[in-house]
Amino acid sequence: MGASNNLCSFETELAACAKARGLRIEPLGSALGHTLTIATRAARRAPAARLLIAAGFHGEEPAGPWGMVEFLRLAPDALLDRAELSLIPLVNASGFAAGRRLNDSGENPNRGYGARCGDDLPSAEGRVLVAHGQRLLHAAADGLLCCHEDLAEHATYAYTFEPGRAPGAFSHGLIDTAARYFALPPDGEIDGLPVRNGLIHNHYDGSFEAWLCESGVPAAACIETPGQQDFGRRVLAQAALMQAFVALRAGA
Ligand code: NI
Repeated sequence: MGASNNLCSFETELAACAKARGLRIEPLGSALGHTLTIATRAARRAPAARLLIAAGFHGEEPAGPWGMVEFLRLAPDALLDRAELSLIPLVNASGFAAGRRLNDSGENPNRGYGARCGDDLPSAEGRVLVAHGQRLLHAAADGLLCCHEDLAEHATYAYTFEPGRAPGAFSHGLIDTAARYFALPPDGEIDGLPVRNGLIHNHYDGSFEAWLCESGVPAAACIETPGQQDFGRRVLAQAALMQAFVALRAGA
């Protein structure tokens, strides 16, 4: 791996892993001079869960995209075979290349979606994703995982969405995996939101994940690895969380 924000190196390694694991990469559209791609892999076994994993919404959170490369290297065939898998490896390529949260137009690619968007409009990347809303909703029919980092944190946590007032097996399964890599934050607040056992539950905020959940996706999570910790460990944690997500939703 080169520098964590080396876009060329990332795209080369991702393409090689995707090819080796039998994924097909195709363009969804173009945003700020970069092609936003989706990689898909058909299930080899039935019944299969339709699962979508998306990374790289924020350019200064590189462990998500690199974690997807590691996931494609490490995930057992027996796990991948149970899912109709769709991956969006890097939403915000211009921000990633610059090591910067926002895109080249100063927009936040994880705001401006759905009913709770408030005054926010989708970013250039968001407009591409919204244009493919029905396809993405179908791809995430059994679950969605969005991969983020919190640069200020030493601890790991997740926003999770599933029916009911309290987090269920899906949320707990994911955070238990994250806790194998990093400490959980103390119960209290993060960014003004209540966090308990490392989980912020059913918070709808105009994000990509909130939008797809509003639209019917039954379970989703936005995982946050801690930017204050070692980068290699964050990458491994992201890859493990992707594997856990597939296992939890595909029943593997
Ligand atoms: Ni983020």
